[in-house]
Amino acid sequence: MSKVIVFDHPLIKHKLTFIRDINTGSKEFRELVTEISTLMGYEVTRNMPLKEIEIETPMGKTKSQVIAGKKVGLVPILRAGLGMVDGMLNLLPAARVGHIGLYRDPETFKPVEYYCKLPQDVSERELILLDPMLATGGSAVAAIQFLKDRGAKSIKLVNLIAAPEGIEAVQNAHPDVDIYVASIDERLDDHKYIVPGLGDAGDRLFGTK
Ligand code: PRP
Ligand code: URA
Repeated sequence: MSKVIVFDHPLIKHKLTFIRDINTGSKEFRELVTEISTLMGYEVTRNMPLKEIEIETPMGKTKSQVIAGKKVGLVPILRAGLGMVDGMLNLLPAARVGHIGLYRDPETFKPVEYYCKLPQDVSERELILLDPMLATGGSAVAAIQFLKDRGAKSIKLVNLIAAPEGIEAVQNAHPDVDIYVASIDERLDDHKYIVPGLGDAGDRLFGTK
């Protein structure tokens, strides 16, 4: 069974409060999503392998560590996942970025795919799938399957806010994928929106309705 890592850092909790707030406009919302993503990225990358190299400081030669292992790929689920890309790139500036376009049909609540462009060497990368909201889990389950169908072997899912139903759906469908969330909220409403949540993440990021 995959792990669920819930963040308890005070800075993340503080910033989450303001992205939930209905009075926070798109500019501030975008900035806060970027900041939270960077803070989460710090933990998501915690187990990256290191290797030792030799360098020369002004005082002489020494051995020191650098990141080794697989290269990273960031994969935002369009649209709302785009809001998390810059925050992650702050920590991982050399990461390649793939895109998966999915929207949730408002009547069936099922994900509809409309775009996919991934790095060619997706099977050799540690993939970090980004989406602020994990509601029913339909979009994340489909996106992960999408990546696996194209050869992906290592995937982590990063969400800002998750519903218990979404976590269960991802764990059941993809027990090999660890889930990183800033908050697990109470429940879904009749329209499958997360309560208390933050509303529609895409609309709040991009000022649409
Ligand atoms: C939102 C969100 C997730 C999905 C979550 O996207 O960003 O992708 O809904 O719901 P689920 O877990 O029930 O699938 P939306 O469909 O609103 O598209 P958008 O990002 O283009 O606004
Ligand atoms: N998509 C969102 O943007 N918000 C929710 O609460 C659920 C799905």
